[in-house]
Amino acid sequence: MKIVKTISAAALAALCLSGCSNSSEDTLKMITEATFPPYEFLRGQEIVGIDVEICRAVAKKLGKNFSAETVDFDSVIPAVISGKADLAAAGITITEDRKKNVDFSDPYVKTGIVVVYKKADGFAGVDWMKGKKIGVQGGTTSETYVLEKLGQEPERSRSPSEAVAALKAGRVDFVIADIDPAKNCIKGESDLAISDFITSEEYAVAIRKGRPELLKAINETIAEAKADGRLAKWIADYTAESDSLKDD
Ligand code: ARG
Repeated sequence: MKIVKTISAAALAALCLSGCSNSSEDTLKMITEATFPPYEFLRGQEIVGIDVEICRAVAKKLGKNFSAETVDFDSVIPAVISGKADLAAAGITITEDRKKNVDFSDPYVKTGIVVVYKKADGFAGVDWMKGKKIGVQGGTTSETYVLEKLGQEPERSRSPSEAVAALKAGRVDFVIADIDPAKNCIKGESDLAISDFITSEEYAVAIRKGRPELLKAINETIAEAKADGRLAKWIADYTAESDSLKDD
């Protein structure tokens, strides 16, 4: 079975080498989960945001075409491990666990997770939440936090906004999420508030292990975008755009 697979993969690669005008070699593929403003969200059908700009700039540096695809957050890192995509960029926090499976670029943002709560209930610290129903986006560091720090099962949603909808509907008592999407979710919701940071995290781009040239191109891109003000501008512009989408 193994042999058959190897042969067909090789045959496919040979076919592409000779006949694919727009083979995957020409295109740098980003994989993300686009419910995470301002890092990635949908403008109509188009995936836009800070992470998309970073990845597009990497493609430009390498002289490649660029494509972006959105999947569930759980499937983002597996997609670069399997080679389905080149760059995983989805507000992905660098963690020791993930480092076992992928290489991370230098970080481009310092951030963390917060608790979203109803003002009427207040928030008296993380220990006080133990035993209550806590909503998170599945596969995230918020989920790990509930499992490991609070020692309980979270209620999993497919996006931060779905988790906040569950809070508004009373299906969960709190939500834990990254601060920027959390801020976006509570915009215009006068009965909701967010806590201070409960963790300190850094976002980076993740790639399959053993691609040093790609890693170098990503790190150079991040350093340049930080130095010339592009990163700060992307953060400002996409925060403003995703906030305004929220007002519609
Ligand atoms: N920073 C958190 C993590 O890495 C959440 C990321 C969720 N990102 C997304 N695009 N939905 O687990």
